[in-house]
Amino acid sequence: MSDDSNNINLTIDGQQVSVPRGTTVLEAARSIRIDIPTFCWHPKLKPAGSCRICYVEIEKARTLMVSCATDVAPDMVVHTASEKVLQGRKAVLEFMLMNHPLDCPTCDKGGECDLQNLTFKHGVDDSRFDFKKYRHIRDKNSTFDDLRIGSEIIRNQNRCILCYKCVRANKDIFGEQDLGAYQRGNITEINTPPGEQVDSLYSGNLVEICPVGALTNTDWRYKIRVWNTQTVDSVCSYCADGCNLTLWKDKQKIYRATSRRNDNIDEGWICDVGRYGYQVPMAEDRLTTPLIKKGDSQVPATWEEALGLISEKFKKIKDERGGVCIGGLISPNLDSLSLHTFSKFFRMVLNSNNVDFRAGYKMLPEKADDLYSKLTSLPFKISDIEKSDLILVLDSDLTKEHPIVNLRVRKAVTQKNASLFALNPITTQTGGIATDEMVYNIGTLHALLNGLCISLIDQNLTQYENARDLKNKLSPNTIEEASRISGIDVARINSLAKAITEVKNISLIAGELLTSSINREQLSGAIINLCLLAGIFDKGQVGVLSQAANSKGAEKLAVMPHLSERSILKIKQIWDKYPDNDGLALDQMIRSSIKEELDSMFIIGSNLMLEYPDGAVVKEGLEKLDFLVVADICETETTQIADVVLPLSTWVEYDSSFVNLESVEQKFKAAIKPVGFSLPAYQIINKIAQGFKTPLFETIDELIPEIKTLLQPDDSQNSFENCAIEYIEEKQNPEFEIPLLITNELHHFGYFTEKSNSLSNFCSEAFLEISPGLAEKLDVKNGSIIRVESEVGKINLPVKISEYIDNDVVRAYRNFSASPVNILQMRKRNIDRVKLTVVEGT
Ligand code: FES
Repeated sequence: MSDDSNNINLTIDGQQVSVPRGTTVLEAARSIRIDIPTFCWHPKLKPAGSCRICYVEIEKARTLMVSCATDVAPDMVVHTASEKVLQGRKAVLEFMLMNHPLDCPTCDKGGECDLQNLTFKHGVDDSRFDFKKYRHIRDKNSTFDDLRIGSEIIRNQNRCILCYKCVRANKDIFGEQDLGAYQRGNITEINTPPGEQVDSLYSGNLVEICPVGALTNTDWRYKIRVWNTQTVDSVCSYCADGCNLTLWKDKQKIYRATSRRNDNIDEGWICDVGRYGYQVPMAEDRLTTPLIKKGDSQVPATWEEALGLISEKFKKIKDERGGVCIGGLISPNLDSLSLHTFSKFFRMVLNSNNVDFRAGYKMLPEKADDLYSKLTSLPFKISDIEKSDLILVLDSDLTKEHPIVNLRVRKAVTQKNASLFALNPITTQTGGIATDEMVYNIGTLHALLNGLCISLIDQNLTQYENARDLKNKLSPNTIEEASRISGIDVARINSLAKAITEVKNISLIAGELLTSSINREQLSGAIINLCLLAGIFDKGQVGVLSQAANSKGAEKLAVMPHLSERSILKIKQIWDKYPDNDGLALDQMIRSSIKEELDSMFIIGSNLMLEYPDGAVVKEGLEKLDFLVVADICETETTQIADVVLPLSTWVEYDSSFVNLESVEQKFKAAIKPVGFSLPAYQIINKIAQGFKTPLFETIDELIPEIKTLLQPDDSQNSFENCAIEYIEEKQNPEFEIPLLITNELHHFGYFTEKSNSLSNFCSEAFLEISPGLAEKLDVKNGSIIRVESEVGKINLPVKISEYIDNDVVRAYRNFSASPVNILQMRKRNIDRVKLTVVEGT
């Protein structure tokens, strides 16, 4: 009987089922755990109906039907395993195997191949096809016809069953055009356009969804058989999106990482940094024992010797000068147990608030940054992006910073008709699908946001009661002036203001440039004004996206010196006390050390010499310390100058958690034992605390409730008032007029990704991205060498001409040890500027 609500009632294999209108027969069957095999179907792709293995028999239908592309209908009666269906499936398999090579013993998909499994299940052990199998042969000497179509992807066309999942996902989900189907019939092949490679940040997903061995990853091929591996649930340790991973390991070696689908976060897609990042822990040059500096060299030592020396030195400084003369920096790519233990050690043992995690930020505030903290404490859900009618992206190259958030934005725009407006200082890939991408003059976002606020008020588009009062306080306070400063036409600003007010649901997303900007508070104030005027707090969500895997955890676990009253109260609640001193942010620690007010630093998992956005200052600061302790997984520019170096375990070597940008805590498990004599950071910290006779925990179970308390959502902050902070144009040195942006390279998130062979195959050296216009002006080509010179440093970089760069801006990439671009930066400058000299044309 059919239901007249939105649900449809039908019968599948004798079972009654009720599903929403628009559900396919395949989905209806799977909802009651009836399995129907598929090849070309994928839960996140539109059905293609090309392979026909999902045949079912539907009563009154004249032929077998493909269940993945047939919608349920009232009173439908479906048979998924009738004799007719089984014969149909068998015929499809026989047809597929007609030309398919029988190379399972040498195929890397063996053991997890859908075609192999179904052939076995349906007992297709013979063929009526008497002719010679058709062979794609590109090279007569190659038995397997392997063709590299991407940095990490090998295609074997003979195994391909033409399900087109790779082509469809590449285009429809990732927005890429570099893979297609060429020719027709038997000779159809999946390939790239001539001269191109599949090199997008999402390329590994194409291999993962291939149902046969037509696409394989170079990292996994011929290394191990799948049945000899064990799987471990993990979480990506790089950006803050928090993709869920499965690690495939045997003994002490990890062989690959694949997606562990979480529809709230990643929907089963991971970026290549997450996919190949597991190779970093596998690096051959891991630090395996502590090192102590003796004379000019660092010599291996036992943990007992190293910890004894650290405890002795720290105790002496604490007794003679106070714990405030020691500074602590920990990486936000470390786990929650380690971040929390670090804060506890400084606050409870050293009685100091000198803890920080923000190695890459300029000019950190000397007090709690209230407006920014308020914005970052707002709830934000990646999955809610697709409910938006309009998405407003501020200051974020989403593909590079948050690849999985980027996919959700793409989905909202391309599949759900949301409009996208992007306000960026540079053209972005995400901006390619925007209704309007406003590329403003670098450093003028604040003025542009004020212009948007003025537009809302002048066009009477706001319900905010204090709008007029706010307008009088804004600076610049005319839309024309905001337009002049930002370089964006008045008409475009007005039409964005109109669009924002016409929709019911908005996601406002701000990214790295806001998070790490000197003007974070100003920009946060301007965003708050916009949200009040446009009613965004009531009709949508605001996400200031944290950067690293556990940056959000570090904020919530109070790994910062200047805390809100609310955070201090929480700390007092769990530890009964809180140090009675102001604490130094990282930036202040470096300055204090230059002034010889700070004696020592304890750095965990951070290569400050390469990360701190002022190479000259950090070098001077660290070299002036009396005693520097650095724990890391491999040798770095920072470990090289340390008095004691401690070998650090990576996230695949112990159980803990990360807190993603949505504030969701996600646990991960150890896949292998700690490498060499390395230890997890929380154990190292606790051992040092034991030297003070004040252990921080007996078992880690004691830390769990403390962490839980600190991670609880904080709703008390969410009341907003408008704020007027004047826009101030930064003075420039006319000799250095070209703005320089420094960010992560697409395949290098964090300084150790150079240790991943796969990621280095995508990109192995730093470069300077410049616009085609500037390239013409300088008469340079790709690969030409340019000297990039700022007021404080210079470096030679090869040129890469990019359509994403606008004439008056250049972009360089951090995380390449041979090219420390932070030597070009000055901590006090909001915008770094350089001059360019051609060293070697091509
Ligand atoms: Fe239905 Fe391929 S899975 S036609």
